[in-house]
Amino acid sequence: MCNMKLLVVVVVVFNIHLVCSLPIASNTNKLKPFFLQQVHLIESIHSPSLAGQQLNQAYLDILPVDRLLYTYYKNVNLSVEGIEPLGGWESPSSEIRGVFLAFYLQASAKAYLAYNNTHQLAKAQYLVEQLNRVQQILNESGFLAAWPSEHLRRLERLEKVWAPIYCYEKLLRGLSDMNTMTGLTLAGTMMRSMLEYLYNWVVHCVKTYPTSHWHTMIFSTTDYEYGGISEFLYEQYGLTGDRRFLWMGQQFDDGQFLGALSLNSDFLTGIHANSHIPPVLGSGQRYAVTGEPQYRAILENFYSIVWNNHTYSTGGSNGGNDSVGFFQREHYSDANLLSQTLWDNNQEFCVQYNMLKVIRVLIEWTGDAEYANAYERVFVNSIWGTQDPSGPGHMLYSYPLGEGVSKPTSVSSGGIGYGSQFDSFWCCYTTAIDQWTKMSDSIYFFTNQNDVPSLYINLFVASQVDWYEQQHISIRQVTAFPRETTTTLIVNTSIDAVPLNIYLRVPSWIVASDSWIEINGIRRQIELIPSSYILLPITQWKANDRIVYNMAMRVHAEPINDNPQLASILFGPVVLAGLTKSAKTLPRDLSLIRKVNSTVYEPIKFEATALDGSIFELLPLYEIVNETYTVYFPLG
Ligand SMILES: *[C@@H]1O[C@H](CO)[C@@H](O)[C@H](O)[C@H]1NC(C)=O
Ligand SMILES: *[C@@H]1O[C@H](CO)[C@@H](O)[C@H](O)[C@H]1NC(C)=O
Ligand SMILES: *[C@@H]1O[C@H](CO)[C@@H](O)[C@H](O)[C@H]1NC(C)=O
Ligand SMILES: *[C@@H]1O[C@H](CO)[C@@H](O)[C@H](O)[C@H]1NC(C)=O
Ligand SMILES: *[C@@H]1O[C@H](CO)[C@@H](O)[C@H](O)[C@H]1NC(C)=O
Ligand SMILES: *[C@@H]1O[C@H](CO)[C@@H](O)[C@H](O)[C@H]1NC(C)=O
Ligand SMILES: *[C@@H]1O[C@H](CO)[C@@H](O)[C@H](O)[C@H]1NC(C)=O
Ligand SMILES: *[C@@H]1O[C@H](CO)[C@@H](O)[C@H](O)[C@H]1NC(C)=O
Repeated sequence: MCNMKLLVVVVVVFNIHLVCSLPIASNTNKLKPFFLQQVHLIESIHSPSLAGQQLNQAYLDILPVDRLLYTYYKNVNLSVEGIEPLGGWESPSSEIRGVFLAFYLQASAKAYLAYNNTHQLAKAQYLVEQLNRVQQILNESGFLAAWPSEHLRRLERLEKVWAPIYCYEKLLRGLSDMNTMTGLTLAGTMMRSMLEYLYNWVVHCVKTYPTSHWHTMIFSTTDYEYGGISEFLYEQYGLTGDRRFLWMGQQFDDGQFLGALSLNSDFLTGIHANSHIPPVLGSGQRYAVTGEPQYRAILENFYSIVWNNHTYSTGGSNGGNDSVGFFQREHYSDANLLSQTLWDNNQEFCVQYNMLKVIRVLIEWTGDAEYANAYERVFVNSIWGTQDPSGPGHMLYSYPLGEGVSKPTSVSSGGIGYGSQFDSFWCCYTTAIDQWTKMSDSIYFFTNQNDVPSLYINLFVASQVDWYEQQHISIRQVTAFPRETTTTLIVNTSIDAVPLNIYLRVPSWIVASDSWIEINGIRRQIELIPSSYILLPITQWKANDRIVYNMAMRVHAEPINDNPQLASILFGPVVLAGLTKSAKTLPRDLSLIRKVNSTVYEPIKFEATALDGSIFELLPLYEIVNETYTVYFPLG
């Protein structure tokens, strides 16, 4: 199933690394990710990842190319007769118009890699050709956007304008993905022209204005959203060795914000969450290409501050409450007041999307199961459950965690509840279409250290990893996790004995005493230490070898970080939400929460009796679509 051509593209890129002999810190990474084309989601009785991927693809399918291109055409006075413009944040009057198309290219490249959707690839190739036409007509030294370059002048004049650098970077990324992932050289040429324009603009700004003016343009608190431009530029430096990109990347490093993080100081309270994560990813990339240790520390510290002090049980982390004196909605709240931020407007989807990227970097750097636990927590509770399954193109912006809330009545900067197919296009639509095409990412990692290949089973998702080209082996993971607590791994290989170390993640939530591993029907005595990777005691594998791994789950309470009396109820990694309008007090003895028998064909279900004697159901938060629910409960 591996597409050779695509692997060759990547190998060429790797050679460039060597030619430039940059100090690539990533050589010291503990774990390596697979390419998307090596891992496929497979059918299962229950797979929110696959169901979400398919629903998302249905959405990509119903979006017509000419409507996606409308604002780009309009920007160069090409006829848009007969084309209906899109609405919402993509409408012709929106200053961030055109961004969705940029993400559409990223998602298309991934849909092609992850599940060989050649139709999606063809659609994206057409889009790139049309964008090329627009770039030619603009004839503005490489500039390309769905809005005029005047937006950048407005930035120079410190006039209000909505995130032009962010928009520009997203299109650079879309073209770059089409180039490196699908081999479309036109996209690479267009991207390099766009970069030339950006370089000249940054040089112009640096020559024309004092540093303080540039800082106000880019880092001022009112307009702070320049996206992942530093990450992109450091990556380009790593790929090409062109020092202009290193220099440019540095111009987008906010010394005040990153400096505080390098000192491990938490001043996140009140800052806009999503716009501050991509610059942190930029620091991670800077470390990867220059090896400067403080840039690694920035990403590590950021994660630990967010995770330990600003995160809910779902792994989500933003949604301040205005009435208690700090910024509302999309901002990080006060770590000491987190319990007062549970309402109808938490967890902007983009923030969880970007946190997964941060955590993935940490998994690669350290190989530490602690980060993989975090990845699972976000993935299960903050990615799953964000689409209305009744039809494509209905996704959430914010994810409420308050008392008596519901997804259709959630409040966000985009509007209320799930969005619509053609009139939303919020930032959380852009990141969602990308996220749902890469659901097979981070399920497996590998290393080849000391010439012994090692496979790490990281997430429990029905899937297949194809490692034929390198190691003559593929492994199929069959599971309806978390509706069942077991996962079965089946080996396929055409040779007699494949040397391979297999490591299974032992999650933090496992009940080790009730868990077990069977290899070819034989129960093995293996100590299961929570939050570790366990090495299986077999190092040579043959076709049809079968590993069955049972990870027993239990109901447990996780208090919110500022109030030990207020807790979220979990079953394994799954946050349970009570189908109740009020946060009734629960007894501390959680064994009083009864599991209602269910099969893998229906959601996990529990029943709780509150101290007032009333009985209510608890369901996985991710299984809830429209019902009213409550996530945190006082413990009596
Ligand atoms: C990808 O899809 C194309 C067209 O549907 C098909 O010809 C090709 O064999 C597929 N490739 C893989 C690797 O599955
Ligand atoms: C499009 O038309 C407007 C108004 O006539 C003009 O200002 C602008 O320069 C034109 N743009 C292009 C790319 O031709
Ligand atoms: C593009 O602009 C350059 C000068 O900026 C001009 O010489 C050239 O004719 C233009 N090309 C087109 C196709 O308009
Ligand atoms: C932040 O988390 C750390 C680690 O859990 C803890 O020691 C510290 O008290 C927390 N700070 C606040 C303000 O909650
Ligand atoms: C914000 O928190 C305060 C204090 O807990 C609470 O009274 C208020 O209802 C909250 N606001 C919203 C909109 O939920
Ligand atoms: C959820 O509610 C929306 C209306 O708000 C409705 O269109 C949709 O069908 C409902 N979804 C399910 C799965 O019931
Ligand atoms: C097993 O691997 C061989 C190649 O080694 C492949 O041809 C075959 O389709 C695979 N079988 C399954 C069930 O994946
Ligand atoms: C429910 O599950 C328990 C234990 O798992 C079992 O003893 C009981 O028979 C089941 N009840 C039904 C109605 O299936």
